[in-house]
Amino acid sequence: MEKAGFTRRNFLKTSAAVSAASFMTNLGTNFAHAAGSDVIKVGVIGCGGRGNGAADDCVGGGEIAGAKVQITAVADVFKGHTDRLKNKFKIADGNCFSGLDAYKGVVDSGVDMVIIATPPGFKALQFEYAIEKGKHVFVEKPVAVCPAGVRIMLKAGEMATEKKLAVVAGTQRRHETNYIDTVKAIHDGAIGDILHMSVYWCGGGIWWRNPEPGMSEVEAQINNWYHYIWLCGDQICEQHLHNLDVANWVMGSHPVSAYGQGGRNAKMRPQGSEIWDNTAVEYEYPNGGRVLSFGRHWPGEGNVSEFAIGSNGTSNPGGWIAPKGGQRKSFRNARSGYVQEHADLIKSIRDGKPLNETLAVSESTMTAIIGRMSCYSGMKVKWDWAMKQSKLDLVPRNLDLKGPAPKVEIPIPDGKLV
Ligand SMILES: NC(=O)c1ccc[n+]([C@@H]2O[C@H](COP(=O)([O-])OP(=O)(O)OC[C@H]3O[C@@H](n4cnc5c(N)ncnc54)[C@H](O)[C@@H]3O)[C@@H](O)[C@H]2O)c1
Repeated sequence: MEKAGFTRRNFLKTSAAVSAASFMTNLGTNFAHAAGSDVIKVGVIGCGGRGNGAADDCVGGGEIAGAKVQITAVADVFKGHTDRLKNKFKIADGNCFSGLDAYKGVVDSGVDMVIIATPPGFKALQFEYAIEKGKHVFVEKPVAVCPAGVRIMLKAGEMATEKKLAVVAGTQRRHETNYIDTVKAIHDGAIGDILHMSVYWCGGGIWWRNPEPGMSEVEAQINNWYHYIWLCGDQICEQHLHNLDVANWVMGSHPVSAYGQGGRNAKMRPQGSEIWDNTAVEYEYPNGGRVLSFGRHWPGEGNVSEFAIGSNGTSNPGGWIAPKGGQRKSFRNARSGYVQEHADLIKSIRDGKPLNETLAVSESTMTAIIGRMSCYSGMKVKWDWAMKQSKLDLVPRNLDLKGPAPKVEIPIPDGKLV
């Protein structure tokens, strides 16, 4: 598997737009069933805010890549949630699926590609199914909430490579020129060896969705998914992952260990929510460098960014480098990363060089997970141990939508690791 950002530079060298017709002649066997209609059929799994946004971005990305994208199928655990996309894209009733197995309906509906925009806990099994069935995938970040989920992702990602399927993840910074050009300058040695980074996702509180009348416990948790660890992985995983992904990208590796702390400020957190509202984790990298991560849901001054200190200068990987004694240089973004990631995905298929970002996004997800495991336990967590030996598996396999939900439990550090 290749890491995005390193491979994308190759795509930039190739010509920009081609006609839909020439697109079709360049499609690999994985688009064979789209031939004759000159349309890429895309299904959306998870029709909330991001599923809706990603569907539009995919259509826009297709235009940039010279391909016609049609959203032909939708799935959501809740029937009513598919309506917006169904109406917007005039999707047939028979291609609108609901329930926990709805994703299978979309994957099996004759689509070429799926967009997975469900809560993080569900993504690994949905991704695995899509790859098994030979579909290209755009998968939102994070891709798992526990080591068991990351292992499923990695295995399915290898299968994607074998099957020449394209996988792009919703780590859009890797498709934004301000990040791409700044990180390239860092990797080219503009500020020397990177010794330290600080990365932040410090924002205010998040939404709380009261259960709707008639909802079961499981439905209520899925609807309010950000507040349950088995569904969202806590804030470090769900949101802060973006900045940890940049850290791994800049450092050229995942960390070897994590040592963290955190907790909750009871005044801020709604009753019934089990996630924390602040974490601080120090990660150690193979070169001995350290990355300090800060995540929180607090009022006050927000900060969503990354900062790097090199042996010969400093940088914000999102847009500038300042070499010691030299000129500060800024880099700008050409267009929305949300659209560009789809353009890159579709173009990579067109060129017969499918991008596969599974490894990078799985490693970033695992980076967040070991950070959270350290915070929750009070223990230092080693990457190798967590990848190979941790038994943490948070997502129930035979969930009954009308049944009882996993127990709500606020993590209290006890010096134990699972
Ligand atoms: N890349 C980014 O910047 C970015 C931005 C926003 C959201 N996201 C990611 O997108 C994902 C979704 O976030 P959102 O803001 O759209 O949330 P949301 O709550 O608006 O939407 C989630 C949708 O998924 C549905 N769903 C839940 N479980 C399902 C299942 N098992 N099968 C099918 N559908 C299911 C829900 O009913 C809901 O409609 C999250 O992982 C989030 O991190 C990424």
